[in-house]
Amino acid sequence: MTARSQASELKPQERVTAYWDTRGGEAYDAQATHSPHDTEVADAWQAAVERYLPEDRAARILDVGTGTGFLAIMAADLGYPVTGIDLSEGMLATARAKTVGHPNPPQLLVGDAIQPNFAPGSFDVILNRHLLWTLVDPDAAARAWFMLLKPGGVVVAWDSLWWNAGYLAPMDDEETSAVGNAWNTLYGDETLDALPLSRAVVPDELMAMFVRAGFEDVRIDTDPSADRAHRANVEPERGESIPPTLAIVARKPSVPRADPI
Ligand SMILES: C[S@@+](CC[C@H](N)C(=O)[O-])C[C@H]1O[C@@H](n2cnc3c(N)ncnc32)[C@H](O)[C@@H]1O
Repeated sequence: MTARSQASELKPQERVTAYWDTRGGEAYDAQATHSPHDTEVADAWQAAVERYLPEDRAARILDVGTGTGFLAIMAADLGYPVTGIDLSEGMLATARAKTVGHPNPPQLLVGDAIQPNFAPGSFDVILNRHLLWTLVDPDAAARAWFMLLKPGGVVVAWDSLWWNAGYLAPMDDEETSAVGNAWNTLYGDETLDALPLSRAVVPDELMAMFVRAGFEDVRIDTDPSADRAHRANVEPERGESIPPTLAIVARKPSVPRADPI
């Protein structure tokens, strides 16, 4: 049985998680676009994240699809109580290693962003980065996040239109690279077809699920500091440009909506 036919026996979510397990957190963090390699870029991201967090440092933050803990650690650095969840043990292992000795470590748990296992109203803010495109059921995720937030709570999702820039195409180094092989096997057309936002080509597509789930004030910020931070070091590294970083912001109404008459 070939790797490709083995992969097609897996459900789309299992293929997605297997890819991130294969890739592993250390290789992921080795790329500057994932984990800043200099303080200027790290500070720009910190500013981009901080602007969405409440003044009250007791506010509870959840990072869904935390991976190697980028947003979770950043919010924990700012003093908030943070929980990060991910389905990939391989990515979480790196996140956990990075938080050893942290004075305010985030709680890092295996968990599904689409079916998070927390009580309703547990969080003030839900963050995620580079997750929307790879969700098998973004609508279910948005509904779950709505339930998890307190009234007036906010979701901030940083993502991009990767498809537009050719980022989700098969890798051409599959003969030599384990990651390239895993990408081509686990994130081929069959998987991308099962990920409703993977081929999003306009920002509105990343907002619609939040509107459908009942969020209000849904907007997209073309976030200058996150964007600058994300682009820094990219061109020399990959020899190509990347699509703009978008922050999709959605607020749960403070007062539940009245039922229609
Ligand atoms: C591109 S990485 C982003 C990681 C991290 N948020 C960051 O900004 O570096 C995507 C992550 O989403 C995770 N993921 C995908 N689907 C998930 C799901 N349903 N529940 C939890 N994590 C998920 C993957 O395991 C992977 O770690």
